[in-house]
Amino acid sequence: MSQPEKAAAKKISADSRHLRLRGLIVRTRMKRFAIKLTSASLAKLAFAITATWPSAGQADGTSLAKRAMHLLRDNCIRCHNAKKNKGDLNLTGRALALKGGGEGPAFVTGKAEESHIIQFIQPNSDPHMPPKEQLDGEQIAALGQWIDSGAEWLPAELVIEAKLLDPAALGQLPGGYQPVFALALSPDDKQLAAGHGNLVTVHNLTEKDKPALPKLTGHLDAIQSIAWSADGKRLATGGFRKVLLWNTADWSPAGEISDLPGRVSAMVFTSSNTALATASNAPGQAGEVALWVVDGLAKRQAWQAHNGTIFDMAIAPDGETLATAGADKLVRFWSLATGEQMMQIEAHTSPVLSLAYKPDGALLASGGADKELKIWDTKTREQKNLVTGHPGNVAAIAWPEKKAELITASDDGALRLCNETSKSPGKTWSKAGDLLHCLAATADGKLLYGGADNGRVYAWDRTGKITRTLEPPKP
Ligand code: HEC
Repeated sequence: MSQPEKAAAKKISADSRHLRLRGLIVRTRMKRFAIKLTSASLAKLAFAITATWPSAGQADGTSLAKRAMHLLRDNCIRCHNAKKNKGDLNLTGRALALKGGGEGPAFVTGKAEESHIIQFIQPNSDPHMPPKEQLDGEQIAALGQWIDSGAEWLPAELVIEAKLLDPAALGQLPGGYQPVFALALSPDDKQLAAGHGNLVTVHNLTEKDKPALPKLTGHLDAIQSIAWSADGKRLATGGFRKVLLWNTADWSPAGEISDLPGRVSAMVFTSSNTALATASNAPGQAGEVALWVVDGLAKRQAWQAHNGTIFDMAIAPDGETLATAGADKLVRFWSLATGEQMMQIEAHTSPVLSLAYKPDGALLASGGADKELKIWDTKTREQKNLVTGHPGNVAAIAWPEKKAELITASDDGALRLCNETSKSPGKTWSKAGDLLHCLAATADGKLLYGGADNGRVYAWDRTGKITRTLEPPKP
């Protein structure tokens, strides 16, 4: 282990010790809270709840459930998911919420006033959720009505930060849910490999009417990453703990990596096509970068690159540097020859979700969960520009040409034309039918493909119009 690696490893193990310690403290504190709650405050609570009910208005079951999901998504899920389950509580699924945390089930079907979810969001509650915010009366009432009417869970409505959640803990994908988390275009731009849930479909982009669709199976969980080698010969698909390598000539298997630490969140082939870089991490662990020799898939090197998930990777146009984007808010630069860190940038105030080099290599764009897009000088680390005005996560970036224009994909389903020197996005392009997770651009930058949560892939031309929609395969 090199000196910086050792230092990083030390820091990470210290952090996990700290976390374990905090877990213990939290659990003992909860006991105290429970006693407090069962005393006088409960009576007051029941009154407060019935008093606020009528203001939520009338709503049918599905729209009620949708509204409840969006309230949980926007206010609770960031702390109560598989990776970050505060109070041992994961709210991303109905069964998980019913199992509950250290204090038992998070809700009681049909009984809002007996449900922790409702009790803990009251203004006078201790503990109080979300810890430093207060939902308003109408929001509390909406959640109460939803629990009273059966607490239907709509997992697809919770996934605005799906990239931040752990699909392993989500288990088998619910029927029909085929989010597109990853896309890769062939170097000749004639084929597009897309992960639709746990199936990879290779869409034929040249024959509009008779699309040939090889379906690549073998992943049980959602495909998280796809990479196409620059010589066009190999495709790599990454899911939970596993990478499958394919010969693109006949779509026969070319190898498998099966002992990765967790989901494979990003992948990229080196420009010489000789190595594949993977990013993977087990929930709560350091994000690991590994380099694999393409022929035979022997592990060449692996190192802990970020404290938390690595959401994206990009290789500099000179082929020598690997940039990684982490949940620890950092962008780090690594030598592909030695695996040594060359520099790092404290890039965002939230996880860094997306990266793209300008094709001349002088600039790098990073997008965050803080809704910001930043442009960096790759030599000096200087921040050259900050673009604000995205409505949500900057989930993906494409910078196809050596020009000032780059394109972002975001939570509202729209692509935005940004400029390396403008402070806010320029034109907002047509919206896809759902939030976008990933983006791929043709080499000439004339067509952009975005992968959406509803399982479809949308194609935009440079006027900003959606010109084509690629449907998910039948499961
Ligand atoms: C910033 C992080 C954060 C957010 C956001 C958050 N929680 Fe929590 N939640 C916690 C922590 C930490 C605990 C552990 C209790 C404590 O020590 O206060 C907890 C505990 C709980 C528990 C008790 C779990 C148990 O059984 O021990 C419930 C129920 C809960 N939260 C519901 C919610 C709901 C509903 C929301 C959204 C309205 C929410 N939380 C938002 C951090 C958060």
